[in-house]
Amino acid sequence: MHISYLGHSSFLFKINGKIILVDPFISGNPLASDINPKDIQPDYILLTHGHGDHVLDVETILNQSNAKIISTYEVVEWFKGKGYDGYGMNTGGAYTFEFGQVKLVSAVHSSMLPDGSYGGNPVGFVIESEQHTFYIAGDTALTLDMKLIPLLCAPLDFAILPVGGYFTMDYKDAVHAAQFIECKKIIGCHYNTFDFIKINKAEVIEYFKARDLEIMLPEIGESLDL
Ligand code: NI
Ligand code: MN
Repeated sequence: MHISYLGHSSFLFKINGKIILVDPFISGNPLASDINPKDIQPDYILLTHGHGDHVLDVETILNQSNAKIISTYEVVEWFKGKGYDGYGMNTGGAYTFEFGQVKLVSAVHSSMLPDGSYGGNPVGFVIESEQHTFYIAGDTALTLDMKLIPLLCAPLDFAILPVGGYFTMDYKDAVHAAQFIECKKIIGCHYNTFDFIKINKAEVIEYFKARDLEIMLPEIGESLDL
């Protein structure tokens, strides 16, 4: 599976020939200035919640593609009000798309949309495709609900967890999360974009390694083949 890191919490996946974009926040991220949202042509856009640092470039990208949003009911209704289309699901629900099954799982965070509209509850995603099963935590605190994830799906091949702290769990909590979800291969996100969420990459990698876990912290624009 081909994965590109677009900065902050944004990733681009190629799964079964479909392009899946997660939480696009590119034009507002000076660290991602080498990436042009106008070059992205996804088939689906997954949104974990309504905060600006997860939805900033959604409209730009919807205007230049035939992408459908997959998110919570409230977030999708908000975009439907602007003339776009999507799948407005809710926590605990799952649906099988062309690229695999997406299950919405709980996240402990908040979800106001950019104009102040109520965004419902934030979510994480468990994606089960032919190739891989993986978890995208979204913005969340460490929560015991993560222990449910291994009961709900095939063993996770990898997971994307926030590690920056302040708005979400930090990397030390993310180690507990990795243990809760029984997954040794982690990709970190939601760090370094803002002053409050700065991390020392080498220290984080070492902290995971000392606990028999692997964390990948790709450069923005870097691709991983997992
Ligand atoms: Ni957020
Ligand atoms: Mn965020």
